[in-house]
Amino acid sequence: MLSLPRKKILCVIGTRPEAIKMAPIILTLKEQEWVEVRVLATAQHRDMLDQTLADFSIIPDVDLNIMQPNQSLSTLTGRLLLEVEKVLLAEKPDAVLAQGDTTTVLTASLASFYAGIPFGHVEAGLRTGDIYSPFPEEANRVMTGMLAHWHFAPTSRAVENLLAERTPANRVFLTGNTVIDALHYTAKKNQPLSVCLDSSKRMILVTAHRRENFGNPFLEICTAIKKLAVNNRNVEILFPVHPNPNISSVAYELLGNIANLHLIKPLGYQQFVAAMKRAYFIISDSGGVQEEAPALGKPVLVLRESSERPEAISAGCSRLVGTDVELIVREAEKLLNIPDEYKKMAIGASPYGDGLSASRIVGVLKEYFR
Ligand code: UD1
Ligand code: UDP
Repeated sequence: MLSLPRKKILCVIGTRPEAIKMAPIILTLKEQEWVEVRVLATAQHRDMLDQTLADFSIIPDVDLNIMQPNQSLSTLTGRLLLEVEKVLLAEKPDAVLAQGDTTTVLTASLASFYAGIPFGHVEAGLRTGDIYSPFPEEANRVMTGMLAHWHFAPTSRAVENLLAERTPANRVFLTGNTVIDALHYTAKKNQPLSVCLDSSKRMILVTAHRRENFGNPFLEICTAIKKLAVNNRNVEILFPVHPNPNISSVAYELLGNIANLHLIKPLGYQQFVAAMKRAYFIISDSGGVQEEAPALGKPVLVLRESSERPEAISAGCSRLVGTDVELIVREAEKLLNIPDEYKKMAIGASPYGDGLSASRIVGVLKEYFR
């Protein structure tokens, strides 16, 4: 049998969700004889990235340690572009892969394009159609879509979005979202939740971090969470707080000292999956959580005005509630108090994947290099 010449593939990761969604691809590539996998951590996130990589036993080959407290987007983008270019020149990969819509992804795709190295965009084609929401992610993903060689789209709607932008059809691959691979891999481990909660009470899990919600919208979110906790003493609220100072300083100031509201540090992925399983429902502005929760049968109230993940909304598993205090409280209390409303949303569906996305992506790359 003819053996293929070994190709070097550089996987770039910067933040927590990128580590989660790239982990299945990195682990699958590591099983392939025809690939030398290299992992570049920009460390746009530091503690949260390290925590997540440890969950998947991935050790980066190169680490840019780029995070600085609360740096501006332009500073981050400029620093990253220069540093990623240096790594590409030193590593000379045959292909570069990155997932999503962060500054790490934008700079990895741009530096690869400038260096003439084909770039594979994992989770391609998500769009809200509003350049300001989510900010700056919608712009990042549109720009990356212009530069990528391979577009690994998670859903047929994402494929349609790419084709509508005249992306060549032979570069677009419907693969599913690797987050479901990561979720299956982790959920199988069945790690119990180590946060101490009253087992007789229902638990609402909360996360928030979006830049377009900084300032007044996040104040509204906190007011709603506080109201929910105070109105419903028979329920516990668990809120792992994102370390972005625009979020953490406000959350700790407004939501400290409420007996049934637990503010905690971000959870490792295995613990967060355990928390999602334990939750009665979830309130979140996170992209990844909107994909995972339906697969676990957990309703999600989405703290956004629009979503690039409409599939779960169409399936009835998630609902946009924006950042209006009264609307958040009303929808949450409907789920708490009206069993039929809850049942309608807790149906369990997996519009984002079947757990085999990483092997499809690796299959496309193998075919290309054959
Ligand atoms: C970033 C991404 C966003 C993604 C989110 C996932 C951009 C512009 N934003 O947002 O798309 O949805 O990650 O969580 O790419 N910090 C820490 N420790 C950490 C991580 C962050 O202290 O482990 C603090 C630092 O002060 C850092 C700040 O949070 O400067 C902001 O981090 P940054 O990566 O710029 O933005 P996020 O809001 O985390
Ligand atoms: N997550 C985690 N620990 C937490 C909160 C979230 O591991 O304390 C996981 C979650 O399961 C999801 C991902 O982090 O897979 C989402 O990250 P985030 O909300 O920061 O970013 P987004 O998905 O919005 O880009």
